[in-house]
Amino acid sequence: MKIHDLAEIHPMTAEQLPEYANVIRRSFATVAKDFGFTRENCPGHTSFITDEKLKDKIKDGYYPFGLYLGSEIIGFVSLVHINNGVYEMNEVSVLPEWRHYGYGKMMLEFCKEKVRELNGVKIIIGIIEDNTTVKNWYAANGFVHIGKKNFAGLPFTVGLMEWEA
Ligand SMILES: CC(C)(COP(=O)(O)OP(=O)(O)OC[C@H]1O[C@@H](n2cnc3c(N)ncnc32)[C@H](O)[C@@H]1OP(=O)(O)O)[C@@H](O)C(=O)NCCC(=O)NCCS
Repeated sequence: MKIHDLAEIHPMTAEQLPEYANVIRRSFATVAKDFGFTRENCPGHTSFITDEKLKDKIKDGYYPFGLYLGSEIIGFVSLVHINNGVYEMNEVSVLPEWRHYGYGKMMLEFCKEKVRELNGVKIIIGIIEDNTTVKNWYAANGFVHIGKKNFAGLPFTVGLMEWEA
């Protein structure tokens, strides 16, 4: 049996938001620490996302998923339909204590399958351009770097990557 066999990915409901919000914030806290992001210099970082902001995302075309080990949620990922079969993947999170077991890859594979099921054509993601570890990880999982962009209020360049179905 592989470790993956122990984990399950389930769609999340609005009632479960406080649970998955904590997983997202705790997961992205390690990124904030690594890059020196604080509420002062980067309030828009995912590690500081509020329950309210996550609630605003819940609408048609938004697909939040939780990664469970038994009744414990240890990861999260969401897909949102942008247009014409293009889906953006966001908040890709695995709690620090559960990293390196392949759960992140499992969620990426799940999202690819989900997008195929929805007759989508591609998944796009935005990363911290200088986060080489994450960039290489997505590249190893079939994502191609297609450009970069700067956004007002974000003290880092966003790298854009995509996977074609
Ligand atoms: C990225 C992330 C989801 C990977 O989860 P995971 O379950 O460890 O993923 P896998 O086991 O499939 O792959 C592990 C690989 O992810 C890569 N990785 C990317 N970011 C990492 C991080 N912050 N810490 C550890 N490994 C990371 C490494 O290459 C690692 O390889 P290794 O196990 O040989 O060291 C997880 O590290 C995380 O939640 N990070 C913080 C949030 C984040 O950066 N999300 C992506 C933003 S676009």
